Amino acid sequence: MPAARISGVGMYVPPKVVRNDDLRAFYDTSDEWIYTRSGIKERRWAEEPASTAELGYYAAQEALQAAGKKAVDLDLIIFATLSPDLYFPGSGVLLQQKLGLETTPALDIRQQCSGFVYGLSIADQFIRTGMYRTILLVGAEVQSTWIDYAPEGRTVGVLFGDGAGAVVIEATEALGRGIRSSHLYSQGAYAMELCIAEPSSATRRHILPGSYGMRPYMNGKEVFRHAVQRMGEAIQVALSTQNWHPNEVDLYVLHQANIRIVQAVAEFFGLPMDKFFNNIHKYGNTTAASIPICLYEAQAEGRLKAGDKVILAAFGSGFTWGSVALIW
Ligand code: UT7
Repeated sequence: MPAARISGVGMYVPPKVVRNDDLRAFYDTSDEWIYTRSGIKERRWAEEPASTAELGYYAAQEALQAAGKKAVDLDLIIFATLSPDLYFPGSGVLLQQKLGLETTPALDIRQQCSGFVYGLSIADQFIRTGMYRTILLVGAEVQSTWIDYAPEGRTVGVLFGDGAGAVVIEATEALGRGIRSSHLYSQGAYAMELCIAEPSSATRRHILPGSYGMRPYMNGKEVFRHAVQRMGEAIQVALSTQNWHPNEVDLYVLHQANIRIVQAVAEFFGLPMDKFFNNIHKYGNTTAASIPICLYEAQAEGRLKAGDKVILAAFGSGFTWGSVALIW
């Protein structure tokens, strides 16, 4: 049975940098509040007419190049986003068209901040069964268009950013490399704790021309508490399945929602923070894009080498969460 291995990573963030102090144009906030509560210093915002599929396309091109593959080599595209270009169809088919492909299947998944972890698990299953050998997984978001710029939107608005990350996942017969296990969870009882409930098919509200019309909601403290507990559990099950001691793992890459969440998880396992790769200070929370952007930068900085033991974990809206253990 082949294993699934990440063979190329790419990322793209829009050039426009928005620093914490720049947000004071909309909100009663400060660099001090945002940085001490979340670890964020700045984020990127796409300038119109950039779309989620377009950001994903730039990241995908880099991942393909890194893997030494062409778009025509792809058997499947998986697109993870909570901010698709359109209500329907999904951004996957838009990316497929941008890549110049004719009939390659494109699958969109809606697992928000856990989208990349879910996507890796899905890719792993397709490769293990032998159905596909080369899969592109993209996590991309344009969130600056749903942020609520009204004063009451500040708690959520300061946290999120735009960006994209992509990986090429290939079948490998080389023993000991690739994805070793994945564990996925969700709990719809908490669906309304972090959501954009309008516009929706349930409310039949429509966005008026010239108005954003979105009202994101987050119960920050509840999300924080669950994020620490659930990512801790998901990491523990990954460690137990692999029979790895926490210290034996070379690098942990957790979804970048709040540096204090990562610190709490590190503390739970008694691990130093240098076992965790973080870049939230530069990009804020890029939802489905955050883990692949971390993988790209970790590799570029020499913190991911062939044979390294790696654990990825994510938690987000749904609630959804999960972990992946892999040998880089
Ligand atoms: O991607 C996965 C999903 N997201 C997460 O995992 C995020 C999880 N939650 C969090 O990261 C944190 O709960 C937040 C960063 C969102 C908030 O931190 P907190 O320590 O829980 O702050 P809080 O919501 O309790 O707010 C404390 C105070 C409040 O003022 P009062 O009521 O104490 O007077 C807020 O009104 O801070 C105020 N506040 C702000 N002040 C300045 C809220 N937002 C802001 C802001 N600037 N942007």
